[in-house]
Amino acid sequence: MSDDRIDALRDQIESETIESEEEAEAFRIQYLGRKQGAITNLFGQISEIPPEERPAFGKNVNALKAMAEQKLESALQSLQREQQGGAADIDLTLPGRRDFRGTLHPLTQTLNEILRILRRLGFETYEGPEVESDWHNFTALNFPPDHPARDMQDTFFVKDAPDAEDGPAVLRTHTSPAQIRIMQEQDVPLRVAVPGRVYRNEAISYKSFCLFHQVELLYVDEGVSMAALKQTLFALARALFGEDVRLRFRPSYFPFTEPSAEVDVWGEKPDHADGGEWMEILGCGMVHPNVFRSAGVDPERYTGYAVGMGVERMTMLRYGIDDIRTFYENDVRFLDQF
Ligand code: DAH
Repeated sequence: MSDDRIDALRDQIESETIESEEEAEAFRIQYLGRKQGAITNLFGQISEIPPEERPAFGKNVNALKAMAEQKLESALQSLQREQQGGAADIDLTLPGRRDFRGTLHPLTQTLNEILRILRRLGFETYEGPEVESDWHNFTALNFPPDHPARDMQDTFFVKDAPDAEDGPAVLRTHTSPAQIRIMQEQDVPLRVAVPGRVYRNEAISYKSFCLFHQVELLYVDEGVSMAALKQTLFALARALFGEDVRLRFRPSYFPFTEPSAEVDVWGEKPDHADGGEWMEILGCGMVHPNVFRSAGVDPERYTGYAVGMGVERMTMLRYGIDDIRTFYENDVRFLDQF
């Protein structure tokens, strides 16, 4: 019977709420008060309990007392915190919190802009695989297995990849193998832009890295000329770098184009002795007949131009970035500026 009273009192204490100092004091007097506190009174009743039940009874009342004291103590503490905190936590003179929203990586921004300009010029977007076959990456592009031009694009061979019938797997050294894939998949005429990541076993410097991005262009139709190629490149360069961009068109060599050229853009560099330097941003040319043959297109009927441009270098020129490695360090102080 006496245990019932303890249980009832415990329920009652647990349901109490203490939200002010006055309520805390009332709670203390009601349950723990030295004269008429409900728990104190229970101790007084111990003499009415049969002697053999007294130890258990005493233990239970002690536990109840500890519970009530604990509840009172923690209520007093949180009341105290509230009083101090109300004034201390809010400093109206602090600046507001900034909205830390990320932005697209500068490379992605430039890539998107290039593709947007190209779409206006009629180029659809197409993508090829990053792990390519040796055949697509080299042989079909008129680099026979022992061709010295393969040296310009040393890469990473994927050792344990299952050898397809078209040779060992390589991390593609350029986006040009997509030329072959798209001509095999789609009918000519066609006009495509192929963005993507490429890999090279490269001597790393401020303008070369072992991984970078390219956009490949391929335009195939009857009567496509080198004049059309130049015009497209000038239009792209003006849209991307501004009307006063300075371009240099240089003869070059690639196995998969004939004739071939490279394009440099003048980049101002205030610290540089000449006030700037020419930066090569792309290779281009008229599609070699052997490339058309590899992909099953009739070279007697069709001509075409192809371009492979470097997105990193174009981004460096666009923003005056002087080291390609900063793109991959992911330092927020750098990324924050775009
Ligand atoms: N694939 C070449 C490279 O990465 C660049 C290139 C040159 C692409 C001429 C082309 C081209 O499409 O016609 O070095």
